[in-house]
Amino acid sequence: MKGGLPIVVLVSGRGTNLEALLAAHARGDLPVDFRAVISNRPGVTALDRADAHGVAAQVIDHKAYGDRAAFDAALAETIDRHGPALIVLAGFMRILTDGFIERYRDRMLNIHPSLLPDFRGLHTHRRALEAGVERHGATVHFVTPELDGGPAVLQASVPVRAGDTEETLAARVLEREHRIFPLAVRWFAQGRLTFDGRTARLDGAKLAAPIIDPHDIEDEPLPEESRDRVD
Ligand code: GAR
Repeated sequence: MKGGLPIVVLVSGRGTNLEALLAAHARGDLPVDFRAVISNRPGVTALDRADAHGVAAQVIDHKAYGDRAAFDAALAETIDRHGPALIVLAGFMRILTDGFIERYRDRMLNIHPSLLPDFRGLHTHRRALEAGVERHGATVHFVTPELDGGPAVLQASVPVRAGDTEETLAARVLEREHRIFPLAVRWFAQGRLTFDGRTARLDGAKLAAPIIDPHDIEDEPLPEESRDRVD
């Protein structure tokens, strides 16, 4: 759909979240205009996915730059040429400098594979298993200079099952990522979701806590007492 909100998507690898966004757009469910997909790594699948949907795919290889600031400056220059109203981090695995984040402070969304504020950073599934949590999940949040610390917008959780491995748990969470990320991007594109660098709002109301994906409630196990009654 041309004429939607102009967005640029930053990726680093597989690109299944990008695919979910592209698919939502193809279905007519996401009123955005994909101006470009930019990867900091050459040869990744995400670039092929962009190509397949006719979206311009570009590489800015971070290894070609001496430091983070030089890479971020090149990235910002390229992004600005596309004039996006939203930057979407879809599995983008580089830490960004504060200067870069400030530049896009009210218009950058990230998806993180944990129920923030739990498990910021890397290896979230492994750490969730080690911690023995009962539920794990994913969070869409606005990006601020605090790593994975910006206001959480939307969260989906899944049960952790006995016998789960990092892989099985990651796969269960990923399915939910593919649902909530297009939803949050849609809210932003519709002007329902906003951020002023401090406060995130949905339909004008301050988001003191993330919205919980209604799917969570459907797969919630019944409380002990009612389970007894049903049995
Ligand atoms: C996703 O699980 C995403 O949440 C995570 O990387 C994966 C990318 O998968 N992002 C982060 O860890 C960001 N710190 P994808 O390339 O298939 O979308």
